[in-house]
Amino acid sequence: MGTDQPWHDVDSYLVGELVEEDDALVAARELGREHGLPPIEVAPNQGAFLALVAQMVGARRVLELGTLAGYSTIWLARAVGPEGRVTTVELDPRHADVARQNLGRAGLAERVDVEVGPALDVLAGLVDAGTEAYDLVFIDADKANMPAYLELTLRLVRAGSVIVGDNVVRRGGAVDPASEDPNVQGVRAFLHALGTDPRLEATALQTVGSKGWDGFAIARVR
Ligand code: SAH
Ligand code: DHB
Ligand code: MG
Repeated sequence: MGTDQPWHDVDSYLVGELVEEDDALVAARELGREHGLPPIEVAPNQGAFLALVAQMVGARRVLELGTLAGYSTIWLARAVGPEGRVTTVELDPRHADVARQNLGRAGLAERVDVEVGPALDVLAGLVDAGTEAYDLVFIDADKANMPAYLELTLRLVRAGSVIVGDNVVRRGGAVDPASEDPNVQGVRAFLHALGTDPRLEATALQTVGSKGWDGFAIARVR
C-alpha cells in the first residue's frame, strides 16, 4: 500500500523477532474478518505493548472500552494472569458475540466479562455500583466520546492506575483545531484533558506500522 509499505515490512520484521502471536490470536482476528468486523484491532506488537504495560503495572483488574473481536482483550486477559479479571465493553452485540467465541477458544472466558452496551452507560453503571478500582484502562471505543470516557474512568481508578488511549493521532488529523470530524474533536479534547487535569501525568507517542500512522496516549493517576 504505497507509502505504508516500509512500515508494514518493519512491523513484520519486529513482530517476527519479538512477538509470539499464537493460534488463538490469529484465529480471533480471522473470525472478526469472517463476520465482517472492521480490521481495526491493534497490531500484534501493539497488543504485546498493552500486555507489557499491564504486567509492568502488575494489573489484576483491567477495563477495556471497545472490544471488537476481542483481539486486544486476549492480550490483556493473558497479561492479568489466572487471578486477574478484564471487563471489556462493546456497543455492538454482534461484535460481542464474536469476541465471546474468541475468548472461549483462547481459554479466557472465565477471566473476562464482556459488557454489551454504550460505554457511557456501562461506565456510569460501574461508578454507581461502587466497582473496585481498575489498575489499567484501555480506551479504544468511539473517539468522539473519549473526553467523557476519561472523566468516568477517573472515578474507577486509584493512585498509580494507568490509562491508555488508542488512536490519538489518526493520520495526523488530530492537529487540526478546525476539524469538523467529531472523532478528531474527541481526541483533541481527550489529549487536552490529559495534559491539564491535575489528577494525571501523561504523554503521547506517534506510531507507524501495519496500522498506518497513529498513536497512543498513556497516563498515570497521581
Ligand atoms: N480494542 C479492539 C478494537 C476496538 S474497535 C482491539 O484492539 O482488538 C472499536 C470498537 O468500539 C468497535 O467494536 C465498536 O463497535 C465499539 N464501539 C463503538 N462505539 C461504542 C460505544 N459507544 N460504546 C462501546 N463500544 C463502542
Ligand atoms: C480505527 C482504528 C482503531 O484502532 C479504532 O479503534 C477505531 C478506528 C480506524 O482506523 O478507523
Ligand atoms: Mg483503536
